[in-house]
Amino acid sequence: MDTLRIDRRVVLVTGAASGIGHAIARACAAEGATVHLADVSDSVHEAAGKVTAAGSGSVTSHVCDVTDPDAVRTLVDDVTAASGRLDVAFLNAGINGVPSLLQPGGAIDELPFAAWRRVMDVNLDGLFHCLQHCARVMKEQRSGSIVVTASTAGLRAEPRVSYPYVASKAAVVGLVRQASLELARFGVRVNALAPGPVVTNIGGPGPRPEAAVAAWEDSIPMRRWGRPDDITGAALLLASDDSSWMTGGVHVVDGGASALTQIPSTVLPAPAPDAGSTAAGR
Ligand SMILES: NC(=O)c1ccc[n+]([C@@H]2O[C@H](COP(=O)([O-])OP(=O)(O)OC[C@H]3O[C@@H](n4cnc5c(N)ncnc54)[C@H](O)[C@@H]3O)[C@@H](O)[C@H]2O)c1
Repeated sequence: MDTLRIDRRVVLVTGAASGIGHAIARACAAEGATVHLADVSDSVHEAAGKVTAAGSGSVTSHVCDVTDPDAVRTLVDDVTAASGRLDVAFLNAGINGVPSLLQPGGAIDELPFAAWRRVMDVNLDGLFHCLQHCARVMKEQRSGSIVVTASTAGLRAEPRVSYPYVASKAAVVGLVRQASLELARFGVRVNALAPGPVVTNIGGPGPRPEAAVAAWEDSIPMRRWGRPDDITGAALLLASDDSSWMTGGVHVVDGGASALTQIPSTVLPAPAPDAGSTAAGR
């Protein structure tokens, strides 16, 4: 798409070893950007090889755990030292890996605090560290675009994923909006992308029963799960000057799923026996 203008931009992508982050890194490279991939997994080096093959700009890879503030500071300093500036940051690293509230162990009174903390640590605290250091550089240079991967699960209740995932992504949206207010006067834009269900290591049908998979597809008007490449067009738009008056927004990319007003309550377990007057049917 020649209307997008991120060629020669310096781009950082966290969570770039796989899934959505990897697809974004590839798409940026294909547009001629200089791309720095970061991930907690050392498979990021192999991923960078694939990104190099997809583009013409220079590509580097960095092992970095976003939950470690010192490591994030070093990452951002290394990127700016190597490339002279930081134009675009896709802050995308995230995990789930905790039972949903429909799965054994996922109920509020069963969920271990450690599981809650682990997801909040990566999805929220990790984003905070990245945002803090990217903002430091971009404020100074008086320009930049930060694109955060939130989720439609942060925009409403979603029984098919876990408590900490939903809570962390809702908080991510608040953080993005708040940062957009502060950074606007420095010429720095901050937006959230909110993907719906995308087939990746943490998203997709997984080991769910066939009927649950079919029901999930039925909740998407476009009748299919997303693919990582479905997210890249919106990601590049938010990165480029084509979105120069867009900041503080939450941009849904979900095959139309959020346009449906509600998920039927029949996806939830039946009312518990002897439940009080708030349960269905009383
Ligand atoms: N797949 C979906 O359905 C979906 C939907 C909405 C939002 N998202 C969000 O998209 C983002 C990317 O997820 P994905 O679906 O591509 O999954 P993914 O597992 O394929 O990619 C996530 C990447 O983040 C990395 N990562 C995890 N913890 C990290 C840490 N502490 N430091 C640095 N990197 C870390 C992983 O190693 C992995 O490479 C996440 O923020 C996720 O919450 C995914």
